[in-house]
Amino acid sequence: MGMGEMGNGLGARMLMTIRSGGVGYRAAAAERVAAAFGEAYGEGPGWVVQGAGRVNLIGEHTDYNDGFVLPLALEQGVWIGLRARGDGQVVVRSLDFQEGATLDLGRLERGRGGWVEYVKGVAWALQEAGYVLRGWEGVMGGDVPIGAGLSSSAALEIATARAFAAVGGWDWDAAAMARAGQRAENAWVGVQCGIMDQMVSAAGQVGYGLLLDCRSLQSELVKLPANTAVVVLDTGTRRGLVDSAYNERRAQCQAAAAFFGARALRDVTMAQFLARADDLAPLLRRRARHVISENERVLEAAAAMRAGDAARLGALMNASHASLRDDFEVSSAALDQTAAAARRHPACYGARMTGAGFGGCVVAVAAAERGAEFAAVASGLLSD
Ligand code: GLA
Repeated sequence: MGMGEMGNGLGARMLMTIRSGGVGYRAAAAERVAAAFGEAYGEGPGWVVQGAGRVNLIGEHTDYNDGFVLPLALEQGVWIGLRARGDGQVVVRSLDFQEGATLDLGRLERGRGGWVEYVKGVAWALQEAGYVLRGWEGVMGGDVPIGAGLSSSAALEIATARAFAAVGGWDWDAAAMARAGQRAENAWVGVQCGIMDQMVSAAGQVGYGLLLDCRSLQSELVKLPANTAVVVLDTGTRRGLVDSAYNERRAQCQAAAAFFGARALRDVTMAQFLARADDLAPLLRRRARHVISENERVLEAAAAMRAGDAARLGALMNASHASLRDDFEVSSAALDQTAAAARRHPACYGARMTGAGFGGCVVAVAAAERGAEFAAVASGLLSD
């Protein structure tokens, strides 16, 4: 994986490229937290744990409709160097925010927000789920950009869960840990996210897509087609998730599911949708059409990946972007222009916005032998 600057007219920047297997990335952040731990405590950490960030290849705004997603775990994430404590306290310092916090696991209280609420929220959610928590102390640091649509918050939640699992000596139960992370975010922090980000952070593997059924939480690792590279382009634009638009989309999807008498849009087939679409209010019709078609695209994309068909995967990503732009209306000018510019490069199979939308990153799949060139010339392309 390489990182590089990409100056251009749109202000987009090449963040990273991911190859099948994800080899070659040096986790400088892991070394940074281990060194900081050594300085603070005079010995090495007992554990260095990580929660991974993610980039979603395809399957956007489908997770909270009980549908399918196909994200990719990143090597970047949030890292914690830690050792166990004999009492019920968590003492943690964030290198990125230059701030420390002490939590009493027996008396967790909501505070003024920020990174520490995610740590508290996970501790609370784990206790609610019946886990008996042991205290720990350590330092944390991340190397996934914050607020870029690459799930820095899920990475923090899963890193925290891994810290508790390490000191508690638990077996790693990815689905239970992901649910605790999601619960922390929904009920403690107050963001109504789905389960995708936490699941891929807890169960994903670098260099593989994770085909996830968001209802059963059954998942399957799917290899990237040979000779392809996934390139993440950051538009540099940001929009918070706590935004009303996300919750509004969720409510619209629920209303559309209710119209079809379904538990979730996942249960409505394209044929059922088409048979009754005319009776549905135009806005809900567009929202439902996105979700139902996107679920189909995810399953097709997984099949294309298994068949090593990068061209088909790319075409599905392009169609996903159009659907998110026109039917779900969560794209932005910067995302549209960056994706369109990326597609103009001959090495690019397809490109789309990734994450909740309105800002953040574009994900592209490119021919690996020209991936470096794609990244290098993207500055010129994107200034078109
Ligand atoms: C955010 C949420 C996810 C998912 C995506 C949209 O990343 O955290 O649960 O809903 O938006 O696909």
